Amino acid sequence: MIFKLEEEHISVKEAAREFANTRLKEGVIDRDSSMEYPTELVKEMGDLGFLSMMANPKYGGSGMDTLSYVIAMEEISKIDSSCSVIMSVNNSLVLWGLEKYGTEEQKQKYIPRLTSGKEVGCFCLSEPEAGSDATSQRTTAIDKGDHYILNGVKNWITSGGKATIQLVIAHTDKDKGHHGINVFIVERDWEGVNIGPKEDKMGIRSSDTHSINYSDVKVPRENRIGEEGFGFKFAMQTLEGGRIGIAAQALGIAAGAYELSVQYAHQRETFGKPIGKHQAIAFKLADMAMEIEAARMLVYRAAYLKDSGQDFGYASAMAKLKASDVAMKYTVEAVQIHGGNGYVKEYHVERLMRDAKITQIYEGTSEIQRIIISRNVLNGALELPY
Ligand code: CAA
Repeated sequence: MIFKLEEEHISVKEAAREFANTRLKEGVIDRDSSMEYPTELVKEMGDLGFLSMMANPKYGGSGMDTLSYVIAMEEISKIDSSCSVIMSVNNSLVLWGLEKYGTEEQKQKYIPRLTSGKEVGCFCLSEPEAGSDATSQRTTAIDKGDHYILNGVKNWITSGGKATIQLVIAHTDKDKGHHGINVFIVERDWEGVNIGPKEDKMGIRSSDTHSINYSDVKVPRENRIGEEGFGFKFAMQTLEGGRIGIAAQALGIAAGAYELSVQYAHQRETFGKPIGKHQAIAFKLADMAMEIEAARMLVYRAAYLKDSGQDFGYASAMAKLKASDVAMKYTVEAVQIHGGNGYVKEYHVERLMRDAKITQIYEGTSEIQRIIISRNVLNGALELPY
């Protein structure tokens, strides 16, 4: 086992860090206040390949591995998690599933649009009555032969207003439970697709979160992904990869708060010395450094397992659970280290603290991650001795 990044991974880290510092930092406080969607910055991220890092170059993707993706996610999330969630959803919830399970026609038609940087996609699973309990879908797609008629409401959809290509999960036969669920490629501009108002959120405020209402939307049969009844498994498998991206986002938020705290500990003086020289602060920094490193190991391991074709479902759940808890706990500590300055916007840490919270909620709450890990423990996937 070698704990060393390859040259290619170091280059990705440097490129993402440079982009985040030169392009995302300026204006991040204003975008958070105004909830303005970063249209130009998303285009730039597309041009640089950040929106399609793992997609096959044959469809315009960057053809990189998952480790490169999490490294870039961490760097971008240190500065702007609104941008990183747009990146994460496009990469792992939309492009990955489309490329793995789509037909060649579907891939040729839709993937180049999403790798071009001009368009983004969204993943429409959650509903007002189906968040954690993803089987309880109420959205229906009635089979009419050469097309389906889609009706229902989706909630809390990241990029919901901007995404032109949507992956929509719906029941085709409720009597079959999760075996009667399918996934469809839907275009935002089709008749009957209605976007609700933008949500006014606690954090990741400039990302674009909406409900979407489907009213008698005609979806061509060829836009169903996979065999009849494959939709629930599609969603579960896609989310396994998505959780690695969100774990990397949480890691970046924690690491961003840590870097700001170390700088502040050197600069700020109390009782005649820099606050880092007081054990009360030094010990907080020690705990932060250790826990962030532990989270990073879990995130990298999940990426490694995925890249090497091994089962990574429990590892992505562990990475997300650990990294999101670290992000929440240590962004609160970062505010504490900054004292009164931590409570005002210009020092960034209060925003990181608000942004951290969503990582314990979306793509499966912390409780869902514990369900997934404990099932793997009990079914012997994590055999002892471990
Ligand atoms: N891969 C493949 N198949 C899987 C699977 C996986 N990871 N997990 C479950 N399945 C299959 C099971 O094998 C089973 O199939 P069979 O009956 O054929 O054996 C079927 O799916 C049902 O499995 P379960 O009985 O385990 O399902 P469950 O109802 O108990 O739910 C759950 C399991 C893990 C709790 C699941 O509901 C879940 O993950 N919920 C959370 C949903 C979620 O993460 N939502 C986030 C929304 S997306 C989002 O946030 C995007 C954004 O915008 C940022």
